[in-house]
Amino acid sequence: MQKVAVIGAGLMGTGIAQTVAQAGIDAILCDVDIAIADKARAKIEKQLGRMVEKEKISAADAEAALARIVTTADYAPMAEADMVIEAATEREEIKRKIFASVGEVLRADAVLASNTSSIPITRMAAASPDPARFVGVHFFNPVPVMKLVEVIPGLATSAETVAKVKAFAVQIGKTVVEAGDEPGFIVNRILVPMLNEAAFVLGQGTGSVADIDQGCRLGLSHPMGPLELADFIGLDTCLEIVNVLFESTGDPKYRPAPILRKYVEAGWLGRKSGRGFYDYSGPEPVPTR
Ligand code: CAA
Ligand code: NAD
Repeated sequence: MQKVAVIGAGLMGTGIAQTVAQAGIDAILCDVDIAIADKARAKIEKQLGRMVEKEKISAADAEAALARIVTTADYAPMAEADMVIEAATEREEIKRKIFASVGEVLRADAVLASNTSSIPITRMAAASPDPARFVGVHFFNPVPVMKLVEVIPGLATSAETVAKVKAFAVQIGKTVVEAGDEPGFIVNRILVPMLNEAAFVLGQGTGSVADIDQGCRLGLSHPMGPLELADFIGLDTCLEIVNVLFESTGDPKYRPAPILRKYVEAGWLGRKSGRGFYDYSGPEPVPTR
């Protein structure tokens, strides 16, 4: 791949664009508002600067990577892309509108991929311009650090499309696992029920935020406790994934923890909104319960 467009310049889109550009691929970073995309590019500049300070990359490489990223709030530049990766908010109606707009400019040989955490690929492919060229490509947060990409073919995804995205993932230094198009794919099917369970444990008063996280960090050797990780992912995204697991399986074991739903209703979305299971307004995160 030589040029990749990323739609949605939030947590994931920013990391994907950085990783793509560092691998020598031109990146188009798009959001609803150009100010959001520009802010994301500034974040990437800062992140690359940190890597230069730590002597992980040269100043020239950082400059070249940044120069490969252009921002836009418009779909027209995507006509030049070999692949478009949708990394917008985890809501199916938003993603479907994006696929319709991309369809108007997408090249006849370009791949359209979704970074969805849980929405069925086959169902979204049916709403895309060409289901054979539609695929799930699931990155992990923080994208520049996490080594895995899950590739999820839909029912109609062609073998050529799957081969192309696997080669792309390797090109940007990731390791691929192929997952079936089932709720949560592989990793989130296992991870997200654990995060939801941690919210039940908190809501039932079995442990405090600090003790639940400390328990899992030290007792399980997890790099982050489950509540810290849920805040890191975004509580809205976690809730959307739990809802997909619950609604698509009908299994009550996946029902969302009331405290998770309440926090999202309050706008407490985790790190990105400044408050979740922790309060991020000070120099260090402070547990809220
Ligand atoms: N961008 C680029 N580099 C980053 C980064 C970012 N956003 N955040 C951290 N890093 C780098 C740092 O520069 C540092 O590099 P060096 O060690 O080479 O200096 C390295 O990562 C470690 O960072 P820190 O020392 O700051 O912090 P840490 O050791 O505590 O690690 C962490 C931070 C990598 C995030 C670690 O806590 C971790 O692995 N947490 C778990 C993350 C996880 O589980 N992610 C998956 C979430 S689920 C998902 O993504 C799927 C979904 O659909 C919801
Ligand atoms: P986020 O809330 O940080 O960012 C979403 C971005 O999408 C926002 O900047 C928003 O303005 C933008 N957006 C919304 N509608 C748009 C549109 N019509 N056109 C262009 N941009 C639009 O969310 P995120 O955490 O980056 O998640 C993005 C996607 O990646 C979701 O599907 C999520 O499930 C998935 N994902 C998230 C994580 C995670 O840890 N947060 C991990 C893997 C996958």
